[in-house]
Amino acid sequence: MQIPEHKIEEIRQSINIVDVISPFVQLRKRGRNYLGLCPFHTEKTPSFTVSEEKQIFHCFGCHTGGNVFKFLMEYEKISFVEAVQELAAQAGIALEADEWKTEKQSEQEVLYDINTEAARYFLNNLLNTAEGEIAAAYFRKRNIKLQTMRAFGLGYALNGWDKFVEFAKEKRIDLDKALQLGLIIKGNDGRLHDRFSSRIIFPIFSPNGRVVAFAGRLMEEREGSAKYLNSPESSVYHKGSILYGLSHAKDEIRKLDKAILVEGYMDLISLYQSGVKNAVAVSGTALTEEQIQLLSRYTKNVVLLFDADTAGIKASMRSIELLLKKEMEIKIVSLPSGEDPDSFVNKFGREKFEELIKHAENFLEYQTEYFQSQGLFDDPAKAAEAIRDLVKPAALISDELKRNLLIKSIAKKFNLREMLLEAELEKILKATVKTADAENKRISEAREIRQSHAIDKNIPPEIYNLEKELIKLLLEGSNEVNQFIMQHLDPEEFCQESHRKLIEIINKNIRENSKVIAGSLIDKIQDENLKAYILEITFEKYSISKNWEEIYPGPSREKVLLKYAVDTVRKFKIMQIEQQLADNLKKMENSTKEESESLMLKKMELEKQRRKIKEEMEYRD
Ligand code: GTP
Ligand code: MN
Repeated sequence: MQIPEHKIEEIRQSINIVDVISPFVQLRKRGRNYLGLCPFHTEKTPSFTVSEEKQIFHCFGCHTGGNVFKFLMEYEKISFVEAVQELAAQAGIALEADEWKTEKQSEQEVLYDINTEAARYFLNNLLNTAEGEIAAAYFRKRNIKLQTMRAFGLGYALNGWDKFVEFAKEKRIDLDKALQLGLIIKGNDGRLHDRFSSRIIFPIFSPNGRVVAFAGRLMEEREGSAKYLNSPESSVYHKGSILYGLSHAKDEIRKLDKAILVEGYMDLISLYQSGVKNAVAVSGTALTEEQIQLLSRYTKNVVLLFDADTAGIKASMRSIELLLKKEMEIKIVSLPSGEDPDSFVNKFGREKFEELIKHAENFLEYQTEYFQSQGLFDDPAKAAEAIRDLVKPAALISDELKRNLLIKSIAKKFNLREMLLEAELEKILKATVKTADAENKRISEAREIRQSHAIDKNIPPEIYNLEKELIKLLLEGSNEVNQFIMQHLDPEEFCQESHRKLIEIINKNIRENSKVIAGSLIDKIQDENLKAYILEITFEKYSISKNWEEIYPGPSREKVLLKYAVDTVRKFKIMQIEQQLADNLKKMENSTKEESESLMLKKMELEKQRRKIKEEMEYRD
């Protein structure tokens, strides 16, 4: 780890997980915890739980969970170090760069740095070299201002086969890593050469604004060469989960609660330059679920822009279905024939563009209109199929009322028989319910497997449950309770291996830190199963906190907790003795005379111990 432990601890202590999560997830207080819709998978009933006391979160649906750092890492797709930095900034805690930067950087950090250096190199080519003037002129011709070039870090790759290779060598960039990033390529002869040559360059950013890849565009058509060339996938670039321009647009998207989805880099850049700053680009590939999931963190409202001259909607049907499935609200705008957002906004200006957006249609209307214009409803045979095509996406809308209103309005507007639409909808819904059931089953199975994985089947359930209660008690963060348990129980007394491991970690934590907080503990555990186990038992439906509050209403939490701990340790001890007594009895049944005598003594000794515990171990106020 590069950032010192005590800094991380300091940050954790000055940050509240509920405050960090609530801007992204609407949380409601439920008992001791907070509950909301999980941002990591699609769900309709909330199973995303946050514990303020323990500073951890957990989703019962998809099993994502961890502490506040983990949340940011998952949510913003950033590294641990970045998450720590972000929260340090929020908490106003200074992280002295050289306090940790001198140590070995993580693999990913190195890759980001190389990309950043490459982006600077390309930008410098564009702005400060004679050859780059061709590219700068090209951008100017397309009405891109200098300021915009800088904002998007646009660049130019010099003509030649090893210009970047030379630069990388000079800058002592790790060439293996540059190969990994695809900035350079190894030829058949083993020689290194540039991926991008004589192309304008668009750096591609992570949602957080780090350079993860590049796209290079030819300035004029070249026989046998693709118009765009992209970096390959790497450990910092997963094409399917990047939306071009998101890092620039995310604040505005949140503010306007609306995102405009365009296709190309140039579309996005021109819109941004004209002042439309809530757009993101899919960049050529089909829209993926990850991209939608990413976008849905900022808004549920999406406007899709179609070129009128392509059979836009048909081609985008898959995207529309995916968006509906993720509960997005979709509006559609079709551009005048021959225009794309870039050309439109440059020709007609921002106001005209906003006008178009304002008059976006709902997707069913749009599609129905299109079908009508194709004459599909005039031919009975074609009409049936067209109606199926119409209703299919509508069935993906989970809000029943909304769905029905939509169907009705379509029927009315286009003079279609409502019954027909409804019957079709019914059919499709039945089929989807089946797949939803299958999905639920899969999730619950995964959960069972997970739990059974953690539990040693040979341990009697009563013992296992008491051990689990004790672990949970230790995680409640009460010093007194922890001291009591540690004094009376040896880790070796626990039967379940994962419990022994946890107790050792907790013990160590108590010695070093005095206070045990699950959110901090979890970073000290390497074993993923063990981490998951902590989350699972903390948020178990029938948690001890619930029990004790029902059983002992009134007194202060700390006292109640201690009483519960004493009772549990006592029960656990007695149960252990009784187990031994039972073993002893079995032995006595088939023993010789001498053996039986010592077994008898053992029995008396155990009974004495039991009496002693019963009499002495009691909670006194
Ligand atoms: P201009 O033609 O300069 O306006 O660029 P554009 O960004 O509008 O491109 P276009 O409309 O042709 O394509 C839309 C998007 O598809 C582009 O921004 C790219 O992301 C992607 N794309 C287009 N052509 C190619 C290609 O040849 N290879 C790859 N990998 N992507 C492409
Ligand atoms: Mn274009």
